[in-house]
Amino acid sequence: MDHKLIESVTVSAPATTANLGPGFDALGLALNLHNTVRLSRAASGLTVEIQGEGAASLPRDETNTIVKAARRVFEHVGEEPGGLRFHLTNGVPPGSGLGSSAAALVGGAVAANALLDNPLSREDVMLLAVEMEGHPDNACAAMLGGLVVSSYGDSDLIYRRVAVPKLTVALALPDVHALTEELRAMLPKMVPLKDAAANIGRAALVVQALTEADYDLLGAAMRDRLHEPYRKTAIPGYDEAVHAAYRAGAAAVTISGAGPSLIAFGPDHHAEIGAAMGHALEAATGKPARTWVLQVDPRGTQVADD
Ligand code: HSE
Repeated sequence: MDHKLIESVTVSAPATTANLGPGFDALGLALNLHNTVRLSRAASGLTVEIQGEGAASLPRDETNTIVKAARRVFEHVGEEPGGLRFHLTNGVPPGSGLGSSAAALVGGAVAANALLDNPLSREDVMLLAVEMEGHPDNACAAMLGGLVVSSYGDSDLIYRRVAVPKLTVALALPDVHALTEELRAMLPKMVPLKDAAANIGRAALVVQALTEADYDLLGAAMRDRLHEPYRKTAIPGYDEAVHAAYRAGAAAVTISGAGPSLIAFGPDHHAEIGAAMGHALEAATGKPARTWVLQVDPRGTQVADD
């Protein structure tokens, strides 16, 4: 059966915070900061227009992550797309620990699938994005929204979306050069069994704490031994920012994704917590830090009605 020819689609994909402390590569939470991609058919060639975050730095050719994800979908379904035009409006800063690469992969893949009138299921599209990313936490949360628990071993992806209340978080991003690949390369190949065991229990307790907005439990459980002790050395002012967040009322603070941003959870005073972390990071780096107060995005990646 021929697919109907769709000329243009618009897709919105959210930021995500991965790991949530001890849930390394397994927990992801979608946040209400979005990238939008408008993908249109063109007579020939590739055009990539970018506004918003990363407009000065992101590539406008085949090496752009959104273009790669879209091409992967076309290739997977055996379609030759012809000319393509991407118009990207980015709210998620690249290289921040807020899941910009997952938003790009999921957004690009969903847009290509929608342009082809959805030959792939949302699950298959998500799996392609996870394969490209190499780990599932950000991509699953970006696709599904809310809190997602996932496990990925080469090609077997197991995941569940877990219902959480409307949580609000504070984030602070220092002005430091820290690529996700470099922050991943800082991690050891082997970890002590007692550290792995501590993380397994705490990751399960973090899920329970988020489900019930139990901030006392979250504060006790959101402590990591597998990545944070290594990565914090790449974040000048990390210790001071964590202490400042607690003083301002945070219940739990951790690195967002691979960093360098920090995320703090608590029942209230989110603007004050964000500002306190930002000031501590600014004092350590001598450069302005950016802060956000965000809520959980329950919707995930959406195709707009054109
Ligand atoms: N789980 C990933 C990591 C998230 O910590 O490296 C960042 O992409």
